[in-house]
Amino acid sequence: MNISPEARAQAQDLLSFIDASPSPWHAVHSIEQRLQAKGFTQLQEAQRWKLEAGGRYYVVRGGASIIAFKLGQQSLSDTGFRMIGAHTDSPGLRLKTHAAHASNGLVRLGVEIYGGPILATFTDRDLSLAGRVNVRTTNGFETRLLKFDQPLLRLPNLAIHMNRDVNEQGLKLNKQTELPLLFSLSNEKLGAHEQFFELLASKLGVSAKDILTYELNVFDTQPGAFWGAKQEFIANSQLDNLASCHAALTAMLAIDKPAATTLCAFFDHEEVGSESAAGAGGSFAADVIDRISLCLDMDEEAQHCAAAKSFFISADMAHAFQPNFPNAYEPNHHVLVNAGPVIKTNSNQRYSTDADTAARFISLCESAGVPFQHYTHRTDLGCGSTIGPIIASRLGVASVDVGSPMWAMHSLRESAGVLDVGYMIAVMKAAFTS
Ligand code: CO
Repeated sequence: MNISPEARAQAQDLLSFIDASPSPWHAVHSIEQRLQAKGFTQLQEAQRWKLEAGGRYYVVRGGASIIAFKLGQQSLSDTGFRMIGAHTDSPGLRLKTHAAHASNGLVRLGVEIYGGPILATFTDRDLSLAGRVNVRTTNGFETRLLKFDQPLLRLPNLAIHMNRDVNEQGLKLNKQTELPLLFSLSNEKLGAHEQFFELLASKLGVSAKDILTYELNVFDTQPGAFWGAKQEFIANSQLDNLASCHAALTAMLAIDKPAATTLCAFFDHEEVGSESAAGAGGSFAADVIDRISLCLDMDEEAQHCAAAKSFFISADMAHAFQPNFPNAYEPNHHVLVNAGPVIKTNSNQRYSTDADTAARFISLCESAGVPFQHYTHRTDLGCGSTIGPIIASRLGVASVDVGSPMWAMHSLRESAGVLDVGYMIAVMKAAFTS
């Protein structure tokens, strides 16, 4: 296998993007920084928009969902949108509101489970906290991003001497009693809550009494890495689905003056069903598209023409074959790492792909010189879903579900292939210029 310097650099850029994005709020911040560096202007939902021909803009809703678009050189009603969607959130552990409590000389932080993580992978890792905190100001409050760089928390395993069957039974954790994270020794002077809030306050440079609310995500401080005999694989947290956000964003930023209007939509709350004001099930995508049409003075007929000419690629990661577990996979649909983007099909519309949209995606792969693969879940296993069917039904546009192959989806340490990073960027560039 030959890995070009460009392919290596693209994978390294993905790992750095994830390392800078330990929560969905940080992911949106990372995306904003890249957009701003390329001349994108932020639009506020609460203000009237004015769009300039060929302009580039982005909108944030709820702090962790973002839509960016570049107006095309041709009229929107002639071309429709070229859209790619993905999600910014990842399954894991989130701090409870009253998180800190002391017992037996130790302070622990209580957590909720967000989405469907593999809980056992959180044990014995160098965990820390990242997210957003609302801090009181003279006029009300402001939102601050917060990230602790050093390991702050831990979920130590029970020794095998007290859990003799762990290798036969698997590691089972009671979600209420066995997930609180070890944080500190108890302090004789400060209560557990005060101790925790003092730490937040000193990191933010504010007074503890001015901290109003927070949403804090537990993340793994270990940075991304290459691995394998030829360093042909990557490992990091949140490959699902920051790898798809990274690919779509990189492709969009690489195309200076697209003929058609290009749009990237990255949503929060996919891992918990997408039903929220900022999630794919909410009105965010439709609202942004409506407002673009209004700003361009398109009548209703023109808007319907544009929708009918639009194409949506829903990008979320796919399950690569792991040879130790052959029975988990549909035997005729083995998807391999470093073998190209995966087209995901499910006739029950867990994925939005149909024969037409799959053929269209195959043409894009062929024009980009990128290999492709097909995935179908085992018939006797429940199939996952993603934003594809939700966006397709909200917007009424042709849609395909695709993703890069990966191992250990929803583990705290996921893995994937170096070449697949560049393959996905290449086919997305082809989609934005089609
Ligand atoms: Co996903």
